[in-house]
Amino acid sequence: MIQVQGLEKSFKQLKVLRGVDIDVARGSIFALLGSNGAGKTTVVKILSTLLRADAGTARVNGFDVAAQAAEVRESISLTGQFAAVDEILSGRENLILVAKLRHLKGPGAVADDLLRRFSLTEAGSRRVATYSGGMRRRLDIAMSLIGSPPVIFLDEPTTGLDPEARIEVWQAVKELAKGGTTVLLTTQYLDEAEHLADRIAILHEGRIIVNGTLDELKRLLPPAKIEYVEKQPSLEDVFLTLVGARTNKEQ
Ligand SMILES: Nc1ncnc2c1ncn2[C@@H]1O[C@H](COP(=O)(O)OP(=O)(O)OP(=O)(O)O)[C@@H](O)[C@H]1O
Ligand SMILES: [Mg+2]
Repeated sequence: MIQVQGLEKSFKQLKVLRGVDIDVARGSIFALLGSNGAGKTTVVKILSTLLRADAGTARVNGFDVAAQAAEVRESISLTGQFAAVDEILSGRENLILVAKLRHLKGPGAVADDLLRRFSLTEAGSRRVATYSGGMRRRLDIAMSLIGSPPVIFLDEPTTGLDPEARIEVWQAVKELAKGGTTVLLTTQYLDEAEHLADRIAILHEGRIIVNGTLDELKRLLPPAKIEYVEKQPSLEDVFLTLVGARTNKEQ
């Protein structure tokens, strides 16, 4: 559903992407991990046609992001880090507004269905100003689903949320993938990738340095031994060891 090959992007002298390759299967959740400034948002912007790559190719839903930008835009929705909801309107009114903008029939029914799917039915008639961070995020994701795009990009969907709100967002994302939506999310939270993703890629110094399932990534490190108890490495161990190893090698 998403195919990226040799993607490069520089901002003046700063080489942010130096040949990024990504493949995401339909209906799967793909997590792009990386430190601050690694280039995660840059990848998402290129894939959602907001930014042009310097080199390489990227296809989303079979369409080339550069040559078929309009078709790509019709295939995706993008949820950025900060919730794009209107505070003065209620949750239901926000959803109806977007459904009308997308020229959907029966916007009220579309809104009610999404409120139910995201456990917001009771809060639906309240002004968004009264919502918690997790409720806003869920509403934001619900809004991005109107029109049922086959691919959804979530750039740091849970940054700044408390653990409970994060779990609520995770459940919403899992529901999406179950329904056949392909999800590419970026995160700095390793446990988020561990809980949610079918495949995980680590973006470091402009390249994907590993890409695999959680089990595959864990197998990259030997299990650590503490006295007589065998300990499996966590994804955090894998990340820090790989990122640290690369950094040291190039110094
Ligand atoms: N429009 C721009 N002009 C100049 N530099 C930019 C621009 N956009 C991004 N950068 C730089 O590119 C690098 C990667 O930025 P990007 O936002 O993709 O990182 P990120 O992995 O999303 O980081 P974070 O985890 O902080 O969100 C950073 O050094 C950033 O300063
Ligand atoms: Mg970012």
